[in-house]
Amino acid sequence: MKKLKNIIIKTPLLGSFVLLAYRTKIILPDLFNEVKNFTGWLFKSKETTNYTYDLSSLNKLCLACFVSEITGRTVEEIQNYFHEVENDTELRNHIKNVTLRNERSFVADAEVEYSRRIGWYAFARVLKPKVVVETGVEKGLGACILTSALLKNSEEGFKGFYYGTDINPQAGYLLSGKYAETGKILYGDSIESLNKLDLSIDLFINDSDHSAGYEANEYEAIENKLSPGAVLLGDNSHLTDKLYLFARKTKRRFLFFKEEPVKHWYPGAGIGAAFRPN
Ligand SMILES: C[S@@+](CC[C@H](N)C(=O)[O-])C[C@H]1O[C@@H](n2cnc3c(N)ncnc32)[C@H](O)[C@@H]1O
Repeated sequence: MKKLKNIIIKTPLLGSFVLLAYRTKIILPDLFNEVKNFTGWLFKSKETTNYTYDLSSLNKLCLACFVSEITGRTVEEIQNYFHEVENDTELRNHIKNVTLRNERSFVADAEVEYSRRIGWYAFARVLKPKVVVETGVEKGLGACILTSALLKNSEEGFKGFYYGTDINPQAGYLLSGKYAETGKILYGDSIESLNKLDLSIDLFINDSDHSAGYEANEYEAIENKLSPGAVLLGDNSHLTDKLYLFARKTKRRFLFFKEEPVKHWYPGAGIGAAFRPN
């Protein structure tokens, strides 16, 4: 380091090149990993949007702590729910088989990891919601994960139903078979569907139009339809403060979990949560 300092002082031009080379060496391992992630994704995946990936184990621990803090359950209980959904082979086979048969399989991966949705699953398992609403269904990965939680709740004597909203009439093809028995998709503009929904919502997940204004309008549309202990999860909270502002306005607390994907170039989204502590 002393040698580098001397070069920079004595020969500023050469010094700045040496410093540049030294600093480039520092970022090389991270740069190499990023290139590996990009090329791996380009050749292994077919996805063009709504990417799927796994989270690092440390990140999953943080997610378990996040859900635990909000629900008042132990971290171990939440981790058990993560294992439950990740090791559900029937769910994995369903996603794989339906994807392979679907005409959009040329832009969808049949074997996927669930990323932050394992957090959604744990919320649905702990809260035992009677009504779950997810806005923005896309293929229906979140829909299958949430309905699989509702099916498990039902086995334990807690019945619940899932409503997904999507403007795309082709959305939600994964929600079929036994998963469709406990959920349905409301096609059309999400705000219009929410306005028509005459139900008390226990778990709400915002994931449709990701503009800040639309997100805020969704929270406004359901403000008077939330049950007293309702939890709202925002899929846009890494980009906007709309769920935080809604939480403040409705005297709820707000927390945010940030994803850390493994072996993927996408920097990750997150889960914003608005809730009232027990
Ligand atoms: C990010 S994807 C949803 C991903 C899904 N929640 C999951 O877990 O994989 C967003 C979806 O929102 C839908 N969408 C966009 N604008 C909408 C609107 N105004 N009303 C309803 N759905 C909308 C899109 O068609 C798309 O399928």
